Amino acid sequence: MGSSRVVLVTGASSGIGRAVCLAYAKRGAAVVAMARTEGKLVALAREIESSGGRASISVGDVGRKEDVRAAVAVANKNFGGLDTAIANAGFGIYADVERITEEDFDAIVRTNIKGVLWTLQESLPHLRAARGRFAIVSSILGRASVPYSALYCMTKHALTALADSARLELAKDGISVTVVGPALTATDFQINAPSRMGGVPSPANTTGWSPEKVAGKLVAAVERRRREAYLTFSGRALIWMRNHFPGIADWGVRQWMKGHEKRRGK
Ligand SMILES: NC(=O)c1ccc[n+]([C@@H]2O[C@H](COP(=O)([O-])OP(=O)(O)OC[C@H]3O[C@@H](n4cnc5c(N)ncnc54)[C@H](OP(=O)(O)O)[C@@H]3O)[C@@H](O)[C@H]2O)c1
Repeated sequence: MGSSRVVLVTGASSGIGRAVCLAYAKRGAAVVAMARTEGKLVALAREIESSGGRASISVGDVGRKEDVRAAVAVANKNFGGLDTAIANAGFGIYADVERITEEDFDAIVRTNIKGVLWTLQESLPHLRAARGRFAIVSSILGRASVPYSALYCMTKHALTALADSARLELAKDGISVTVVGPALTATDFQINAPSRMGGVPSPANTTGWSPEKVAGKLVAAVERRRREAYLTFSGRALIWMRNHFPGIADWGVRQWMKGHEKRRGK
């Protein structure tokens, strides 16, 4: 098939997901935007439609399989199916390993892992029919872990495994599976990430790439059916160092984290 025509994006109400919706709409694709915050989805759909694009919204939680099924049904009803699904919804939790609770573990697994799996499973009949594309928004931290984010790193590493298995299984159906691993991106991610470490709350993240730049790289990788796109030179360098010189990579990360530890009185 050619380029994507109907795209489901989860976590579409802000940040990277929102920018991905706008980027696909600009390319002429119809977009189904899913997240839990209705007002933000309505505003996004209006913005797309006012520029001549096509968008539908589906309010729901990716941790609930029936909500993801409903989003796919919206794509089917309004646009006659679905050929691309972008599993982007996710969040972080800051906690030392000794302070990880079962509640936090279950909550992050529910959204970051189950949510991606449900998005794949519910989209699959349509992706099969279209020989379509599936993409997962992971992270550089899906390949190289950092301190105080073990829960988040575990979920993103799990997505690498899910993507590799799915890619091997679905190749026979002509479905591509792309992992996109952003580095630090200027979104509400840090504000939305609860901290169990005391100290100063995480500030809004204004550094790193813009969500629009990440979205541009994502769309390019997905449309070319690339297996993965880990973003920023320093992000790729960290993964490379982690694989080839883990001791030096650990030292570098420790230096980088020192300011963070100071803020939290470690
Ligand atoms: N920002 C970064 O530095 C960075 C770096 C690497 C990877 N990432 C990854 O990029 C993805 C997007 O994050 P972002 O940076 O754009 O952060 P964000 O601005 O906080 O956006 C997260 C999105 O996910 C949605 N979401 C969260 N839980 C959900 C659930 N259970 N069901 C449905 N939607 C849910 C949120 O909307 P609602 O609250 O309305 O549901 C929101 O639209 C995440 O997977 C994140 O891990 C981010």
